[in-house]
Formats: sequence, C-alpha cells, structure tokens
Amino acid sequence: MIKERLVDALAPLLPLAKEEINSLLEFPPNDELGDLALPCFVLAKKLKQSPGQIAAALADTIVHPLFRAEAAGPYLNFKLNRSAFGAELLERTQSATFWRPNIGEGKRVVIDMSSPNIAKPFGIGHLRSTMIGNAIYRMLSEVGYDTVNVNHLGDWGTQFGKMIVAYLKWGDASAIRASDNPTKDYLALYVKFHEEAKRHPELEDEAREWFRKLETGDSLATELWRDMIGESLNQFNKLYERLGVTFDHVLGESFYNDKMEPVIQKLRSQGLLEESDGALVVRLDEFGMPPCLLVKSNGTSIYATRDLATAIYRRDVMGASQLLYVVGGEQSLHFEQVFRVLGKMDDTWEERCKHVPFGLMRMEGQKMSTRKGKVLFLEDVLNEAVAQARRIIEEKNPALRDKEAAAEAIGIGAVVFGDLKNTRTLDVDFSLADVLNFEGETGPYLQYTYARMASIQRKAAAGMAELQNDGDETESGGDQPAASTTPLSPDSLPANGPLTGSRSHLAEHDHVWPLLKQISFYPARLALAAERHEPSVLARYLLELAQSFNRFYHHVKVLDGSDSEQSFKLGLVLAASKALGQGLALLGVRTLEEL
Ligand code: ARG
Repeated sequence: MIKERLVDALAPLLPLAKEEINSLLEFPPNDELGDLALPCFVLAKKLKQSPGQIAAALADTIVHPLFRAEAAGPYLNFKLNRSAFGAELLERTQSATFWRPNIGEGKRVVIDMSSPNIAKPFGIGHLRSTMIGNAIYRMLSEVGYDTVNVNHLGDWGTQFGKMIVAYLKWGDASAIRASDNPTKDYLALYVKFHEEAKRHPELEDEAREWFRKLETGDSLATELWRDMIGESLNQFNKLYERLGVTFDHVLGESFYNDKMEPVIQKLRSQGLLEESDGALVVRLDEFGMPPCLLVKSNGTSIYATRDLATAIYRRDVMGASQLLYVVGGEQSLHFEQVFRVLGKMDDTWEERCKHVPFGLMRMEGQKMSTRKGKVLFLEDVLNEAVAQARRIIEEKNPALRDKEAAAEAIGIGAVVFGDLKNTRTLDVDFSLADVLNFEGETGPYLQYTYARMASIQRKAAAGMAELQNDGDETESGGDQPAASTTPLSPDSLPANGPLTGSRSHLAEHDHVWPLLKQISFYPARLALAAERHEPSVLARYLLELAQSFNRFYHHVKVLDGSDSEQSFKLGLVLAASKALGQGLALLGVRTLEEL
C-alpha cells in the first residue's frame, strides 16, 4: 500500500510505466535513509541528465500529503508522514478490498494436488503436495481466482496388477478387513511382491497381465481393486479431515479409463503417433526430450496417457483457463513431456499448464522409498507431533481449557507450517523438535502470538484497562504465568515503560511504525505468494509480522493513554490479528483464541 500510493504520485512525473516504478522503488535497509527510495540511474539515460540532477529536480517538484521527498546523491528518498499514513491504513483495513485484493478476476484455475497412490501409504511426500496445494488453492481463491481443486488419486496402473498378484498369492482377506490400518497391510504385500519378483521375474509378467485384465473390465480384478480403493480412501479421508483439507473433486486416474482412446485416436489422425518396439509413442526430439510412451506393447495405458486425457478433460469439461500440478520435482520430465505432447496437438495449450514442483522432505535425515517398505506414515508423524505438543502444553500451561484440541491444533500446525515456510523447490530436513519450538520461526510461535492478540482484544472488550500493569503480566491473560517465567512466550524483551504522546505521534514510535508498515504489506505479500504459487512468501511475511507485533507488545502499553490513543493502538492490534489469523487460515494452520 505504501508503494502503491507513491507509484501513483510518481507516475505522472516520470517517463516510466507504473510497473517499472514499482520495481525500482526500494525499502532502504535502515529507516534513517527514509521509508522508501528511488534510485535514479535508469532515468538518467532517458532524461539525458545525471541521476543526481534528476533526484534534485524531482525532490523540488513533489508535493504530497503522505510523503516528503529529499535528494541524496543519485537517490530520491521519501519520508512518509507516518501519522497520516497510519490513520489512512487503519481506515483502509476496515474495507474488504484491503484484505482480498482482486487480481484473479474470476479466471478459472484447476489445481491438481495431494493425489496419493491408493494401496500405498500416505507418506510425508504427499503431505507436501497436499499442504502446498491447499495453500495455493486458498490463496488463489482469496485473490479472486475461480479455483477448483482435484485429488488425482493414483488408483490405476501396473502397480494394481502387482497388488492383485500379491493379494491372490499371499494376502489374508480377513486379517486385512480386521486391521485398523489396512494400508499398512497392503504396503506389506507391495513390498513382498518386489522382494519375490527379484527371484521370480515372471511375477512382473503376471502383474502386467492382471492390470490388462483390470483395464478391460475383468470382474475379479475390478472387485479386488475396488476393495483396495475403499480401504485406502477411508484412511486418507481421516488424514484430510485432521489437516482441514477439502476437495472440489476426487477423480482418480481410473476415471479417465474411457477417455484415453479418443486422445489416442486424435494423435493418430494428426500423424503424431509412432510405433516403437510394438509400443506407441510421440516423438519429442525437437525439444531434446525422450519420446513420450503412450500405449505399451500389450495395449495398456500408462501414467502419461492418463495425464493427457485428464488435462483435456480439465480444459474442456471443467473450463480451466489454467492448470496447475502441485507434484514433486522428480516428475518434471513427465510433465514437460505431457505438456509438449498437448502443445503438438493444439497450440492453445501453451502457457496453460504449469508444473508447480517441490523438493524432497527428509525426516530427521532419511529419504523414503515405498518399494523397500521404508516409509514414514504421515499419520504416525502427526500423532507424534500432537503427543509432543500435548507434553509441552501440560508442562507450560496445565490450566489451559480444552488441552486436547489445543494439542491437535499445535501439533498439526507445527508440521504444516514447518513445511510451508520453506521455499517449495528446496529439499527440507524435517525435525519435530524444530517445528514445535515456540521460540523459533514456527507455527506454534505464530499461534501463540495470535492468542496473545486475541487476549488483548478480550481485555479491551471487557473494559479491563485499569487492571493493566507492566507488559505481559496482565495482557497475556490473568490465567497465565508472566513472560519471564513461561517458556511458551516467544520473546522476553523488557518492557519499555508507558508510551506517552498524542495519537498523532504514536505512528512515529520506534515500535509502532514497523508494525504499521508490516500490516500495510499484507495485500501485496498475499498477492505475490498467490501469483508465484509460493506459500513460503506468505509464511515468512507472517513471521515478520509476528516479530513486529511482539516487539510492539513488549514496548507499548496498548490499554493505556487517552481514548483516541487506545483506539488507535487497538485498531492496530485488530488489523494485525486479522492479517495473522487470515494468513494462517490460508496456509491451513488453525488458530486458537487462548493458549
Ligand atoms: N499419484 C502420483 C504420485 O504419487 C501423483 C499424481 C500427480 N498428478 C498428476 N496429474 N499426474 O506420484
């Protein structure tokens, strides 16, 4: 918002487009240099003057109620009228358009996310697709896109042939039915298949044959397949519920079984299909890529065939103008191939599809492989996180109401935020101790900060201003120990004494201004995170916001001073809690009113 106002003021004066001015303006590293700065180097060439002359001339020309301009060598520095800006900001935060900038303009985006493989455990890798996808889905909706998310379940393919073989040879139907987590039993069968197949390679042929039967509608194959799907889905749904994730559509790969033939026909009629060792492929030599295999020599489809049919369905039936695929980076080649084949069929596909990749997640240093059975079940990770959260709460705040719900929210919030705060393409080393640390850059730190904001607002509402002493002791709740004795508290900075001065000077205060500034960044950061499909941009913003808030909280008495001062400070707390609360909700992290 600060930048936008300045860009508007500068645009009529400069030979540059608004976007260019926007990207030139910088926030100087320290406030002494002004609140914003415009380096004048690029203007020098256009205006045929030195940057210094330009800065000086502009400084003389600009008259604005919110800014004062000063030249400093080649830079034009802007000093904000912080009080006017603060008043305007609080006013703007009253309106819904501040919180939900409309950049999507109703464009329909279909987001492929989560998409675990049936009859395999829901591992930590699919957590990333689920939570990164969920955040992207919610952020895009928030900024005005018409979003549709789809769980593209891995419920088709040769692995079901393998599962059927293993089940018929070694499976125990009644044990599986009685098991409290049948996906673990199915995993054991899958692992056994791969062990046995090393010694008896003919098992692989049997598996291919069973998948062919499944694809051509064999009744036994279909029945066994349906059982596996049902058990896995029950298991997955429990996880989705705990994570607070919902889907507009759950359409597995099997849904496209009758939609692949027309695609193959079209490719054939366009002359794009070639035979290669009995299989059918589309060549991609011109892109320096290996050919995309679409029909195997025994006539069965593969993953890529199903993805072609899926993309076409999403465009033609679901009306997608953009297709996003939130899938691990190890599938980059697959998506490039699929997108190239689509592009060869019809050039309107260009720009429409986007793979949104993410890195590997290592749990305390390990990488997992399903085939060898070395799997970390997401369910077990969540349970462990919740158990640890429960212990922390029990130790630090045994008087808290509804500790069980709090432990669930904290434990899961810690895991989710611990994932989302990382730039998505990077590999993540995940450690429960780190993500649960209330004093680190964590979900629990933000949840705690949010609860603190809520507590101040409750106190204000209850008109308890007169009970307030120094800092933490009363504002963080009478039922809570003081900050100096509770390690749950994120910061323990000393209180700075009462803030004096009129409301108009409040915005100038060293610990008020940074908070004001952070709140004003909310819409731009949200928009950036949404457009880049990068939840970490929002996650890191929330950390900065919480840090400014906690500094403000330790140095400034909110429930103190004249009525107008108090209402200004409360307005700030309300806006900060809205930004933090909404931001966390968009990331899929639950907030608590008390902690
Ligand atoms: N089921 C796949 C896997 O776990 C991910 C599917 C991603 N989506 C897609 N349209 N290919 O590897």
